[in-house]
Amino acid sequence: MGKFKDLFVKRHTEFSPFYRWHHWIRFFSIIFLIISGFYIAYPFLSPEVDPNPTGFLYAKGRTFHEIAGFIMISMFIGKMYYFFFVKSDRDEMRSFKDLFSVKKWMKQIGYYLLISKHPVLSGAYNVLQLVAYLALYLMLTFLIITGLILYMHVYHDSFLAFLNTPLTYLEVMFGGLASVREIHHVLTWGIIVFIIAHVYMSVFNAIYGKEGTIDSIVSGYKWEIPESEK
Ligand code: HEM
Repeated sequence: MGKFKDLFVKRHTEFSPFYRWHHWIRFFSIIFLIISGFYIAYPFLSPEVDPNPTGFLYAKGRTFHEIAGFIMISMFIGKMYYFFFVKSDRDEMRSFKDLFSVKKWMKQIGYYLLISKHPVLSGAYNVLQLVAYLALYLMLTFLIITGLILYMHVYHDSFLAFLNTPLTYLEVMFGGLASVREIHHVLTWGIIVFIIAHVYMSVFNAIYGKEGTIDSIVSGYKWEIPESEK
């Protein structure tokens, strides 16, 4: 068996159950946030005209946007916990080492231009992927802060009352409520650009890497191709 070992495709666990669940819950909440957010920005549907005050479509749209916002925030907090404190996620942190290697950058760009092999990675992500994810987390952080500032103006109790002072400072720093809304809106487009690039890169890696990249975010497993088959 020993000498035939290298002929078989092996599998390894790429993503933990938490990672996969958080990815998909976050994915659906962000898609819903984009759609409901654009509805808040431009209410393209209006309820039937009724003399009674029952047509609360816009208010309902905003309520569901806020619910999805809090689901996204809870996934964000969970992911932060995993990133900093869970041992099995250390692979992500190790990726930062490659950021300072010019060779890894050149090889990675060459790989996407189909002129060089994929570099050996120190951690879970390649350099371009890591930069894209850092941009995503930066955008999400500001979407959460600006989202909470907007929410503070429609709900004043509970932990929003507790956050009122720091959020008011931030609101002033951002240039007032109108600017906060503008920043929240512009960042939404940043997220849309990220999603397009992310899906393109995932499909690219699935086709050229032949390791089951797209499968892995559902099943958790990736395939290791034997050296002789590469
Ligand atoms: C990926 C995350 C998010 C996206 C893509 C997103 C998108 C949007 C967009 C496009 C708008 C309309 C802005 C405009 O009027 O031009 C909006 C409004 C709003 N968002 Fe978000 N949002 C996100 C996260 C959040 C979070 C975490 C909260 C906090 C609970 C939140 C709370 C709000 C509120 C309260 C409004 C309504 C502002 C108003 O009534 O004018 N959002 N969002």
